[in-house]
Amino acid sequence: MPPYLAGRTNEQDEFRKALRQTTILENVILTGLRGVGKTVLLETFKPIARRAGWLWVGQDLSEAASLTEQNLSKRMMADLAVATSGMLVRTETHRQMGIGREDIEANRPIGYGDLHSIFEATPGLVSDKLKAVLLFVWKALPSGSTPGIVFAYDEAQNLSDHAKQDQFPLSLMLDVFQSIQRMGVPYLLVLTGLPTLFPRLVEARTYAERMFHMLFLNQLDDKDSRDAITKPIENDQCPITFQTRTVELIRESSGGYPYFIQFICREYFDTWLSQNKKGEQMSVVNADILRKLDTDFFVGRWSRATDRQRELMEVIASLPNCDSEFTVQEVADLSRSVLDKPFSRSHISQMLVSLSHAGLVYKNRYGKYLFAVPLLSSFIKRQME
Ligand SMILES: Nc1ncnc2c1ncn2[C@@H]1O[C@H](COP(=O)(O)OP(=O)(O)OP(=O)(O)O)[C@@H](O)[C@H]1O
Ligand SMILES: [Mg+2]
Repeated sequence: MPPYLAGRTNEQDEFRKALRQTTILENVILTGLRGVGKTVLLETFKPIARRAGWLWVGQDLSEAASLTEQNLSKRMMADLAVATSGMLVRTETHRQMGIGREDIEANRPIGYGDLHSIFEATPGLVSDKLKAVLLFVWKALPSGSTPGIVFAYDEAQNLSDHAKQDQFPLSLMLDVFQSIQRMGVPYLLVLTGLPTLFPRLVEARTYAERMFHMLFLNQLDDKDSRDAITKPIENDQCPITFQTRTVELIRESSGGYPYFIQFICREYFDTWLSQNKKGEQMSVVNADILRKLDTDFFVGRWSRATDRQRELMEVIASLPNCDSEFTVQEVADLSRSVLDKPFSRSHISQMLVSLSHAGLVYKNRYGKYLFAVPLLSSFIKRQME
């Protein structure tokens, strides 16, 4: 968590609105580029949900690429068992030995083992089994004890169907939630991930389009960026303050992206501390910090691209609209005017697919492309220089 979370109050309000649904018609997607602040915002949703009485089931799906339907179900049940532990009890009657002894009733908590038994005992598809477990839990919760359960999954863009292996965990999740929500069970799905997430969901199930309300996180505006830079050091213990000029410089070079703001501020802070100890004047050149940011953040991604891919990305970075959407046609046109060996349209399309697998670009729902890494175009231009 950042020492001060700047902005994002609209998104938190939208989430509060989602919690006010009694019948869940809209689930939530939190999406945006790398480092824009999805994970920390999702973290702030947790106390909001809890304060409203909701239970919270959470998971990071970073490793979900190879998840089978069975494994996804098991993970969901394991998370659910933790969230409901202490709330779910089963009353069991024990018969006393001997004549005239009364039966005694005892309560025992319901745990993962119980959920798993229900899963195994339910006939049908994995989705039927998982649905049975989720329904069972809702019915077993003491009535009025909670308005519902939030199922929050971070890095959800990793979840995918695998037709070749006959495994459809992504579709399973959508089917199960859609079906139990229709039955009036208030389980709210909150998915967080890169911008590839939503197209992926719609590709798996077209009804996903109507099932989610999408919150697209953008970079912070100027005021929020300034707050993110200055608020964490506004206290008596902090030995450092930024001049207005420095704040503006950090804001501009970060492009308002929280990860970059934090990176640059930390560099300033560390350099100040080490220089101050040596009794020298503070002399941090922003260019040095940008160079460090390049090595730490961009170079790894850039070096994994092939020469031809880099050439293509240089063409893209030279487009006037490189920081918003661009089309294959625009790239082809520019490539013809700047390269000796220009790219054909079909070649560009193919390469954009491999670049999107590498997480460098993505295709939005209107079929246009965007860079998937914030400030990538400025980095590429620095490389070209
Ligand atoms: N609103 C904010 N105000 C201040 N700092 C923030 C804010 N949002 C995020 N940060 C900081 O920016 C960094 C990136 O945030 P976070 O990890 O949540 O991004 P993310 O979108 O989940 O990234 P990724 O796509 O890599 O998962 C973190 O160090 C976080 O503390
Ligand atoms: Mg994250």
